[in-house]
Amino acid sequence: MIDCSHVQFRYVENLTFEVLEQLQQLFRLAAFWAKDRCREDLATAIAHSHPVVTVWDCDRLIGFSRATSDGVYRATIWDVVIHPDYQGAGLGRKLVQTVLSHPHVSRTERVYLMTTHQQPFYERIGFETNSSTTMVLFNQPMTATVSLPQEATVQ
Ligand SMILES: CC(C)(COP(=O)(O)OP(=O)(O)OC[C@H]1O[C@@H](n2cnc3c(N)ncnc32)[C@H](O)[C@@H]1OP(=O)(O)O)[C@@H](O)C(=O)NCCC(=O)NCCS
Repeated sequence: MIDCSHVQFRYVENLTFEVLEQLQQLFRLAAFWAKDRCREDLATAIAHSHPVVTVWDCDRLIGFSRATSDGVYRATIWDVVIHPDYQGAGLGRKLVQTVLSHPHVSRTERVYLMTTHQQPFYERIGFETNSSTTMVLFNQPMTATVSLPQEATVQ
């Protein structure tokens, strides 16, 4: 098994252009739901996420995850990925635990996530299947300037 003792986990606020490029490549390789994401949109998602965790083998990005949270009631974990060369060595578990241990997530009542195939992995970490609460709206993202109703206008 690959020696991962030198692998580093870092909380980050934003990513440089070069690291965003590495993230794009990592998603193309290992994250089927995020293969087509462009750098600009990734940067926006990261700017609105807290915490954001990156995993490094020297200067090679080998893992990523992020969460969104209200800090008290609910948090959701997104985009958990470990490079295929490094899977099966405990890094995915440590990645999720690093997200969970950040105060913006650890203080919330509930932590959610969505997964298509990896239920057994998350069960090892303590997550439970929760079929009772999930709904989704396939939204049409608005690219034009939004006009708010009168009462919602920000002064
Ligand atoms: C899912 C993923 C993050 C797991 O990372 P990893 O580093 O390989 O996982 P770990 O080595 O930390 O595994 C932790 C535990 O989960 C188990 N596990 C990992 N993947 C598993 C799977 N697919 N099925 C069953 N058990 C699994 C491991 O055997 C280990 O068990 P242990 O408690 O007995 O030691 C990684 O496989 C990945 O990036 N996959 C592609 C992207 C993806 O699907 N991400 C999840 C999207 S929701």
